Formats: sequence, structure tokens, C-alpha cells
Amino acid sequence: MKDLQFQRHRRLRTTDSMRALVRETHLQTQDLIYPIFVVEGEGIKKEVPSMPGVFHLSLDYLTEEMKEVRGLGIRSVIVFGVPKEKDEVGSQAYCETGIVQQAIRQIKQDVPDLTVIADTCLCQYTDHGHCGVVRDGEIVNDESLTLLAQTAVSQAKAGADIIAPSNMMDGFVAAIRQGLDEAGFVNTPIMSYAVKFASAFYGPFRDAAHSSPQFGDRRAYQMDPANRLEAIREAQSDEEEGADFLIVKPGLSYMDIMRELKDRFPLPIVAYNVSGEYSMIKAAAQNGWVNEEEIVLEKLTSMKRAGADLIITYFAKDVAKYLSQQ
Ligand code: PBG
Repeated sequence: MKDLQFQRHRRLRTTDSMRALVRETHLQTQDLIYPIFVVEGEGIKKEVPSMPGVFHLSLDYLTEEMKEVRGLGIRSVIVFGVPKEKDEVGSQAYCETGIVQQAIRQIKQDVPDLTVIADTCLCQYTDHGHCGVVRDGEIVNDESLTLLAQTAVSQAKAGADIIAPSNMMDGFVAAIRQGLDEAGFVNTPIMSYAVKFASAFYGPFRDAAHSSPQFGDRRAYQMDPANRLEAIREAQSDEEEGADFLIVKPGLSYMDIMRELKDRFPLPIVAYNVSGEYSMIKAAAQNGWVNEEEIVLEKLTSMKRAGADLIITYFAKDVAKYLSQQ
């Protein structure tokens, strides 16, 4: 073995503190955005069967939950509404007394320093379960924009700090920006689901949000998982239309897209670690097949390494606890 030439990479891995010294990526509680599901009614705290640890909450449980979240050091939540009444045009999405509007008002009043992000879409509110207006079996783009802008404005009026449109209609950022500006909300940022793929990983969410399409699927508006260049075009148009943040969704199978956007766009990049990714880990952990804490920290750290500045994750509370013990 004499005269053998090689690099000693292991020098930097000898001890815990040495490894900490050269660590390149840091997961922090303030990077996390916690999704919540609010429902109409009273006394409801019901676990979503396909998402252990995730609950439907009625407003009387909401403040307590938000105080706990804030107490753990988490600074932002994204709110999804599960309304009782659905109709063809998703009226409950933009109704002043809609469940999301009520929830936002309550959170901003009771826990004002929590940043409240409103998911802006129609699928939970329409009886057909699609994200836009349906005519002759088609999801009509431009008419949907008016309703989406109306939804965003009603959420901003309720006190939402950030609007996060997830519907994948063309021009939704432009329409919502104009709607917000005209209503006087020039300072309300848009966190756009710029790159949202038509994904099987949303299965448990549709269970949680009761938002499965009643006919067909979402492939005429959400993206084909096979496409990278199209993802760049989507992000580009959202940036031009005025998006303040770009979301890549889902997270796990699309980390190459996060890196691509991070390198190309000078905007905060957000990874959505979606329901299916959550449920897969929960199920495996419950079976004792993987170590939940280690796998969750590894996965979220990898998303940050891939270029995500922020992560929307159902694991947020768990991660906040893990990090505070380190
Ligand atoms: C609404 C919306 C969906 C998710 C977030 N907003 C579902 C969908 O497009 O079907 C999915 C989130 C998750 O799976 O965790 N359009």
C-alpha cells in the first residue's frame, strides 16, 4: 500500500461536533409551514383515517391547537377548509362567512403573530370536486379566474397574510394579483403552487379534504410528472405575473425540480411534502419498519439541500419537537 494516493474525506466525519462544523444544510423550525383542516360544526377533533396524527378541527378546538403550534416555535400555518355545503360554483370558497374565512379571522385574533396562509382553490367547495368551473365536462379556465380572485380577496379581507393559489388554471397569479391590488391588498404576497403535478401522492389529502374529482381526473390542469422543461415554463410565467414564492408539489419525487427552480429564480422556493409522503412514512413507522424521527429529519433536510427554503409539512409539529431536543 506504499505510495497510494487518495483523499481522506473521513477526517471531517470523526466526531459529532466535527460533523456539525461542516454541515451544509440546516433544518429549522421556522422553515416549516403546518397545514390544518378546519370543519364546520362544534366539538369536532376527528383524526383523518389515512393520515394518523392529522385532525379535522372545528373552530372551538382551533385556538388551542394554534397556540400549541406557535408554542412549538412554528410560525406559519396553511389553512384548508372542509365545508358542509358544496355547489357547482364553489360558493363557500368566497363566502364571507365561509369556514376558512371564519378560521382565519379567529386565528389572527387569538394568535396574531402566526402567519396565516390561505390555500386558494375551489375543489373542496365544488360538488364536482374540480378546481375550476365545469362546462360540458370541461374545466373552463378564464371563468374560473374570476372566482379564484374573488376567493383570494375574501381570504385577504378575513386577515390572511399570504394567498396560496393551488388550482393550476393559467393566469391565476395575474388574476389574483389584480384582484388583491384592486381591493387594496397590495402588500399581500402570493405563494403560488407554480409547479403542481397530477400526483397519486395526493390520495390521503382528498380523503381529508373531501375533494376527489367526481368525474375524470386533474390531468387537464395539473402537470405531467414526466416534464421538467414545462415546470420551468410554469414557474417563469408565475414569476412574471407577480408570484412572491414558488411552490413545488409534491416534494419527494420532485426534488430535481426544486433544485432547478432554486438555481433559476430569485424567489423563495417552497416544497410541499404532501399527504401521501406523510402517510407512507407513518404506515411504515407504525409497522416498525423504519425509524420515524430519523427518516423524517433526513427527508426534510434533503428537500432543503435540494433547494427548498421552506417546507409545508404535516410533520411540522413532530419536527419542531425533534429539533428542540437536539
Ligand atoms: C387543492 C389541493 C390539493 C392539495 C393541496 N391543495 C389536492 C389536489 O390537488 O388534489 C394536496 C395536498 C396533499 O396531498 O397533502 N387543489
